[in-house]
Amino acid sequence: MAGTSTSERGAWNSKLGFILAAAGSAVGLGNIWGFPTKVATEGGAAYLIVYLICTFLIGFPVMVAELAIGRKSGKNPVGAFKALSSNKFFPLVGLWGVICGVMILSFYTVIAGWAFGFAFEEIFYYLGWQEAADLLTDTGNGWKNAIIASAFMFGTIKIITGGISDGIERATKFMMPLLIGIIVIMIGYVLTQPGASEGVREYLLPDFSKINADLIFSAMGQAFFSLSLGMGALITYGSYLNKKENIPQAAAFVTLADVGIAFLAGLLIIPAMYVAKNAGIEIFVGDQLASSTDLVFQILPALFHTIGGAVGLILGVVFFLLLSIAALTSTISLLEVPVSFVIDEFEVKRKKAAWSVGLGVLAISIVVSFYPALIGHFDNIFNNLGLPIGGLLTCIFVAFVWKTDSAITEMEFGFAGIRQTLFSKVWPVFIYVVCPLAILYNIVTNFL
Ligand code: TRP
Repeated sequence: MAGTSTSERGAWNSKLGFILAAAGSAVGLGNIWGFPTKVATEGGAAYLIVYLICTFLIGFPVMVAELAIGRKSGKNPVGAFKALSSNKFFPLVGLWGVICGVMILSFYTVIAGWAFGFAFEEIFYYLGWQEAADLLTDTGNGWKNAIIASAFMFGTIKIITGGISDGIERATKFMMPLLIGIIVIMIGYVLTQPGASEGVREYLLPDFSKINADLIFSAMGQAFFSLSLGMGALITYGSYLNKKENIPQAAAFVTLADVGIAFLAGLLIIPAMYVAKNAGIEIFVGDQLASSTDLVFQILPALFHTIGGAVGLILGVVFFLLLSIAALTSTISLLEVPVSFVIDEFEVKRKKAAWSVGLGVLAISIVVSFYPALIGHFDNIFNNLGLPIGGLLTCIFVAFVWKTDSAITEMEFGFAGIRQTLFSKVWPVFIYVVCPLAILYNIVTNFL
């Protein structure tokens, strides 16, 4: 078992640093690529509402649970379950989380690589280098995918080797404000363009008849993925959290930041689609809106090209850089989970752990680069199914093994009066009943 003490493991320097890092983990392709396109194709504002309910009623309580497990144990997901009980099963849940993280990361870097490549595509297009631009738009080109995914992975590894406060915290503290600034400026531009108001209506006026079991399942999966829940990323980030910090409050900030940015991304992308439509770009395939990949990797570039000139160039480059930055703050958290597992459980030094795990995941990414069809399968198993299962078992662990009362005791550090609050009465009900039943119902209706 690990001999590394908390100080050797590293810790967040400040509360803001932790919140930005955890929000950085949460805000990623899921928010800027996944969420708007799911809203657009799966029910507009009705989807938005169900997603918000899932986030606050199911996601937030689970996030609090993960952070409490992490901070109490001071360990990676496997070590954490070992530290808090002698039960032999739950460390396997932690291990399942580590595996899900590795597998999600393996395809996440490929998609992130597409986004990063498109930033250059916009430049090459502007310069008239059509062949180079076409190469970058070809998401099926294995070599191209592999090279950019590798660059992305090296960047991630590099930041992780820097450790918690000097690596992850420093990088995310710089990238998160930049990302928010870019989104707001782009929204300002898009909303003033002809056609945007149709998109705003589509996004904000709900048609409740669209709510059905499929939509709810999709929205719940999206909430889990977007908050980075169900695989121990927040157990890991919580393990670096100071006892002074207020866990429910920190979780609330992170949840709000995640939802806020998803909402803004929707406000950017859905109107942008209708601006594209107004400019004569095809956004429907038959009577269906274009699928998610097409939306961000075909329609938006087409829009930037139609706008053309320096404005089109700047918007295009900035948008895809935005997507890349958001992805990078997320790949950091996905890699940190298996790396912290290796550091704690095998007493390997951070640098060595980061490189060996990172290169191992990269090997899988390279396979995915050549067979992008794997993305859908990995996404189904490790994300759509894996994360809700992880979340469900985390609730069961806290409710019946570690006990919600122990978790509340942990939360008294940084929130002395917690036992007098309504939160301390309501949160256990969610962990015992509401979250597990909601998650279970969703899994069962969709997979059986
Ligand atoms: N939340 C990120 C997104 O929305 C992806 C992500 C990062 C993630 N770390 C995670 C998902 C851990 C699940 C678990 O893009």
